[in-house]
Amino acid sequence: MYSKVAVVLLFLALAGCYYDSEEDLYPPVSCDTSNISYSLDIVPIMATSCLNCHFNGSSIGGGLNLEGHAALKASAENGSLVGSVTHASGFSAMPKDASKLDECKIRKIKAWVQAGSPDN
Ligand code: HEC
Repeated sequence: MYSKVAVVLLFLALAGCYYDSEEDLYPPVSCDTSNISYSLDIVPIMATSCLNCHFNGSSIGGGLNLEGHAALKASAENGSLVGSVTHASGFSAMPKDASKLDECKIRKIKAWVQAGSPDN
């Protein structure tokens, strides 16, 4: 009897997770993640929140240069770009010692990475 209750509760908990991820898949219209452009959408985010530490020759950002398309694409492809801005476990949370990027900026970065991090 109690185990049936547990199964129902487990099902409800899983259903809750399912709806959470559906919100990620269909973001609010106020955040446009279609046709994300490296130069128009991604560079401004990087310039504002990241490049003060991550430029060529800087040791402030752990020696990681994220300036220019090729450099950023490398971090996009190894998962560390999305991992760091989403504060995923196993990655250093970025921007370092500052608040998380707003949700729309994170969605734009994810969309750009999912599109294959194009130089557009
Ligand atoms: C105040 C300086 C600073 C800022 C601002 C900053 N970073 Fe970093 N970042 C670092 C340091 C230092 C490291 C080396 C790892 C550590 O010490 O946490 C690092 C590491 C990283 C890594 C490698 C993480 C890993 O776990 O492999 C990525 C990717 C990264 N930063 C991306 C970003 C992005 C994207 C932004 C902007 C949203 C940003 N950083 C802003 C200092 C900074």
